Amino acid sequence: MARPHIEPFVDRDVGFKKLLLPGFKKGIQYKMLSMDKDSGACTMTVQYDAGFKQPPGFSYSEMELFIMEGHLMIGGKKYGKGTYIFAPTGTALPAMSSDEGALGLIFYNFGPPTFQESADNHDAVDTSQQLKIINSYEGLDWQVPTLFPQTAPGCLLKILHLDPKTFGMTFLYCMTPGFWQDNISYHDVAEEAYHIWGTSWMMQFGDLPTGGYFYRPAYINHGCFKSDLGILAIGRTDGDLHNYFHHDPYSSPEENHQRAAAKLARMKPALYQWILTNEHNHLPHDFEFPDDAYSTKNYDSGIHMHEDGTAHGHASSGAHSHLNTPKVSKKKNK
Ligand SMILES: [Fe+2]
Repeated sequence: MARPHIEPFVDRDVGFKKLLLPGFKKGIQYKMLSMDKDSGACTMTVQYDAGFKQPPGFSYSEMELFIMEGHLMIGGKKYGKGTYIFAPTGTALPAMSSDEGALGLIFYNFGPPTFQESADNHDAVDTSQQLKIINSYEGLDWQVPTLFPQTAPGCLLKILHLDPKTFGMTFLYCMTPGFWQDNISYHDVAEEAYHIWGTSWMMQFGDLPTGGYFYRPAYINHGCFKSDLGILAIGRTDGDLHNYFHHDPYSSPEENHQRAAAKLARMKPALYQWILTNEHNHLPHDFEFPDDAYSTKNYDSGIHMHEDGTAHGHASSGAHSHLNTPKVSKKKNK
């Protein structure tokens, strides 16, 4: 199972708990924002207490850390709010400490929170990506999103990380004062976000204030939006983000799947037909990344469409549909 839909959640409504997992040093407190109960992947608000110290070490999961308040010393350098740290799986971070304490957000993207004391990377470190530390507040400019279709004017981005394989991304985004967008959106990917500052309003889920968070699985309607005074937030997707816009507040996730599939059939009919017919080849061999194993076992769309009642042996219970070929593509592909 993937992480459940959590929206809205406000971390100011709950207290911190001490992080007492094996391996971690004393002086870390957390608020759990979302968690995959099978893999342990999670996102947390994290408080490093004044006087916190941690030797060099790595996580067994890809890890991202964003500092919202206070300072952290990392490898002898002082980093303050707006600092974004990306650590690929098994990549050792230098020693960390904090004299005054720090408040942050931490993302363990593929497994539970872990800390293995080590000055060196793990032998099986993910070498496809690099450790990076970015000053996102002062070192990056706001950009008008180049994603198409675009969000309404007044929503700006700073891309912090783009996964080279999945195009999943982590980004700061802002809504300028008076921002509004009058349509409804959904995506093929999950997205999560946390309000560093400010309140926005959304038709389905109401106000999301400072400290507000959501984890939103794919194909869930969200919008219209507005923000009177503007917001600053950090967001993350687990794959390539496409804005499917529409104006039907009553469309279901199943109908949104259908529309997305219809778009694929319309725009990439050869690929769509191949996926449907290539001897149930749902797990493609990829000559670009031949060592990668593709699996949908951590993705559950909630849909399983075998309308003829036939049974198939699949390694995964993930979404696959055989008989829901959109009518438009049936006509065009014949
Ligand atoms: Fe979205």
